[in-house]
Amino acid sequence: MGTNDIFILAIESSCDETSASVIADGKVLNNIVATQSVHEKYGGVVPELASRAHQENLIPVVQEAILTAGISKSQLSAIAFTRGPGLMGSLLVGVSFAKAFAFSLDIPLIEVNHMNAHILAHFIEDPKPNFPFICLTVSGGHTQLVLVRDHLDMEVIGETQDDAVGEAFDKTAKLLGLPYPGGPLIDKYAKEGNPKAYKFPITRMPELNYSFSGIKTAVLYFLRDQLKENPKFIEENLADLCASVQYSLVEMLLIKLKAAVKEYGVKEVAIAGGVSANSGLRDTLTKLAVEKGWNLYIPKFEYCTDNAAMIAMAAHYKYLKGEFSSMDVTPLAKMKI
Ligand code: KG4
Ligand code: ZN
Repeated sequence: MGTNDIFILAIESSCDETSASVIADGKVLNNIVATQSVHEKYGGVVPELASRAHQENLIPVVQEAILTAGISKSQLSAIAFTRGPGLMGSLLVGVSFAKAFAFSLDIPLIEVNHMNAHILAHFIEDPKPNFPFICLTVSGGHTQLVLVRDHLDMEVIGETQDDAVGEAFDKTAKLLGLPYPGGPLIDKYAKEGNPKAYKFPITRMPELNYSFSGIKTAVLYFLRDQLKENPKFIEENLADLCASVQYSLVEMLLIKLKAAVKEYGVKEVAIAGGVSANSGLRDTLTKLAVEKGWNLYIPKFEYCTDNAAMIAMAAHYKYLKGEFSSMDVTPLAKMKI
């Protein structure tokens, strides 16, 4: 590293991961993540507990990022943070810290859109997608199809009208008695099950939009009926239940992705967000890409779930364009791409 390197410290605190990362001239040096386990027993993220955990974890996480980058605070060129979308209380912790730090070091502040950053996670390592590409961003909070024309030029071409797909995974997992977050557990049990064992709805929304709220209601009523006949129905059929739920969710995701590729005539296809870890989605998509001649991009798992490296990547492109934020910036819980 030269002495004139641009070092940016990025903070992510939109939901339940507290994360910091240092990027040097576009190269991510580290990605420190403190996961909040406090939410497990509640079956979902509790906003106030998340804010408190961010308060507790943020400075140690930042200290570790600066230390392992091998730099001193005085070498930082800018401070980046997630402005939204996310939980207001969680965002406030990150924004307030980022402002105070930038103010004390007298360096620029860079706001980053979390959804934009999930997509820019594809630029942390090779191979990188070519523009334009279509990205399916699937997480606990979002399900979006995005046309990406350039690093900072993105358009949402379809999205969920209700629950996010990760939420659908987690809520059905809860109905099956699995702990939060249930998505990875559905994935695990689905590997042993038959995806055609039960038929859960495949909701078709107009255009490129999604709806995932129907499946949890369908599963709820289905289980209620089955449990009346056999109280051990879930435990005896857990693998088949998980495989069948996963099948419907993945089908719904892919129907609209195929439609988007067709409509926009783009064969560069990427997925981002925590649910891109799902092996059913990965396997089906990999086969589909071969069949259709798409170039498919899936980031490393650590860059799929919430992390500050993706915030740092977005900040790098904004720094190059001189897109800085003013010191009176506030979080936007429903920030749009
Ligand atoms: O992107 P992310 O880490 O956080 C948000 O911004 O929401 O995504 C978390 C979501 C959770 O709903 C979790 O259950 C889901 O991603 N998830 C999975 C898998 N791994 C994480 N869902 C299905 N299969 C997985 N293997
Ligand atoms: Zn996220």
